[in-house]
Amino acid sequence: MGEDKKVIFSGIQPSGAITIGNYFGALKNWTKLQDEYNCLFCVVDMHAITVRQNPAELRQQARDLLALYIAVGLDPKKNIMYYQSHVPQHAELAWILNCFTYMGELSRMTQFKEKSSKQGQNINAGLFTYPVLMAADILLYQTDLVPVGHDQKQHLELTRDIATRFNQTYGDVFKVPDPFIAKVGARIMSLQEPTSKMSKSDENPNNFISLLDDLNVIKNRIKRAVTDSEKEIIYTADKPGVKNLLDIYSCSTNKAIAEIMPGFEGKGYGDLKKAVADALIAEIEPIQKRFQDIRKDKAYLDDIIKTNTDTAKYLADKTLRKVKKKIGFPQ
Ligand code: TYM
Repeated sequence: MGEDKKVIFSGIQPSGAITIGNYFGALKNWTKLQDEYNCLFCVVDMHAITVRQNPAELRQQARDLLALYIAVGLDPKKNIMYYQSHVPQHAELAWILNCFTYMGELSRMTQFKEKSSKQGQNINAGLFTYPVLMAADILLYQTDLVPVGHDQKQHLELTRDIATRFNQTYGDVFKVPDPFIAKVGARIMSLQEPTSKMSKSDENPNNFISLLDDLNVIKNRIKRAVTDSEKEIIYTADKPGVKNLLDIYSCSTNKAIAEIMPGFEGKGYGDLKKAVADALIAEIEPIQKRFQDIRKDKAYLDDIIKTNTDTAKYLADKTLRKVKKKIGFPQ
């Protein structure tokens, strides 16, 4: 890692299909930031077990997510990519930070409230303390910037609060990180219910598009996306379905909303959907091709993990040792 650059940390859970929400909200921004920063991109498999996972599938999904990181354009030579469960410092720091986090703070987390109301049967303690593990992920590496989608904003605020609280007691141990949330794409919405966010765990597959979906499926899902009973293509919160399609188009073409709107003047929703499907497919098709090649090369992926895990461990340990010393653990 170059000493002069600032540090980025981010991660994605290997828990199901990676959606275009994950891509436009997180992954694509990572590729744009990778030259300017020292980056750690983690496959956060420990976060994924707050929901029951099939072991063979979890292992496969973690490997596939690593392959996808590379397929979207993240350079494994430049960035540190690894599996969270290979670096035990994450769990160690999470325990310590648990003792600096209040029950009240965790109960206010929107994602916990949503997931626990949906999950009914298995509201485990991990689901509750999940944001503390996320804070540990970030704080271990003295992270400056965390590129995420809008739904992670509250977890980032908690991370900052935990870091500040710890620093107030023990001196400047942790860097207090800033979120990086893009203006467009940070909140890609469900295709059938455009007032809810697109989620990879959605039971209705028509609500989301996975980066690895068949191209015809992608075309049909866009075609069937809910709009409204009006006709005009306007970018406004009052028209969430149309707004979402325009966001997807803007992200796929790398053009700002103001730049794309004149092209839709006098056009109808059918034209909009065709344009969105074409642009999205043009963006996704090359990623899918690269993914299929990379995932076949097990030795290549194993080698990336082997090299990067040691670097991550080394960096994480620097912070963890300092933390343990400050809180008074025997040396
Ligand atoms: P996860 O795995 O749910 O999502 C991964 C990333 O995708 C973003 N995202 C979206 N962005 C735009 N529109 C959407 N519909 C959408 N859905 C998801 C998320 O904001 C996220 O950036 N807790 C995290 C993983 C995590 C993490 C971390 C992230 C664990 N430790 C440390 C950053 C730093 C999560 O569950 O993301």
